[in-house]
Amino acid sequence: MKIFIDTAVLEEIREVKELGILDGVTTNPTLVSKTGKPWKEAIQEILREVPDKPVSVEVVATDREGMKREAKELAKLGENVVVKIPCTEEGLRAVFEMNAEGAGVKTNVTLVFSPLQALLAAKVGATYVSPFIGRVDDISYDGLQVLEEIVSIYEIYGFETEIIAASIRHVDHVRRCAALGVDIATIPYKVIKQMYRHPLTDIGLERFIKDAEKAGISI
Ligand code: E4P
Repeated sequence: MKIFIDTAVLEEIREVKELGILDGVTTNPTLVSKTGKPWKEAIQEILREVPDKPVSVEVVATDREGMKREAKELAKLGENVVVKIPCTEEGLRAVFEMNAEGAGVKTNVTLVFSPLQALLAAKVGATYVSPFIGRVDDISYDGLQVLEEIVSIYEIYGFETEIIAASIRHVDHVRRCAALGVDIATIPYKVIKQMYRHPLTDIGLERFIKDAEKAGISI
């Protein structure tokens, strides 16, 4: 499973890159607004930090022509730009038309909450699709159940669109995404850091350190 970080904070991206586990970055307007930086500066810094990894950047237009125009502008910012387009009828038409025109824009169909939306995203040739599992849980449905169906539908039909499990809230979401065989999980910084931790590792290490002192081990 590829690991993307779901943030626009440069320092978080840099740290996770240096951990050697980073495969890409996803942002959205909310995440960019939290940086307090002008949006273009925030995005360009990220693109420079990870020039060899896909970075998703979202359009703000909601009509097809506006989304296509913004997508083409965003794609000029770097070869690693992936344009996030909302899963609306206009958004899916924008993806379809850009592919038909051979615009060469990589797309991530976002705000996906159902297997049928994910099916349509694959049909129009999206590069990635982002089901939001945490937000489905928030309305008392089962986000992982939705994700499992999407994974299964994509396998049955051999769609090439890669699935990015998004809106991940805790480490158990990540574990279950991995068990489902999802292509990618985009994970907030805080959750990535929690993935390293296990209380038994801490207890075990403490015991080994004490016993090493007792045994006089010094290497
Ligand atoms: C995905 O690409 C989105 O940026 C993100 O995962 C949304 O997560 P949230 O529901 O925690 O805002």
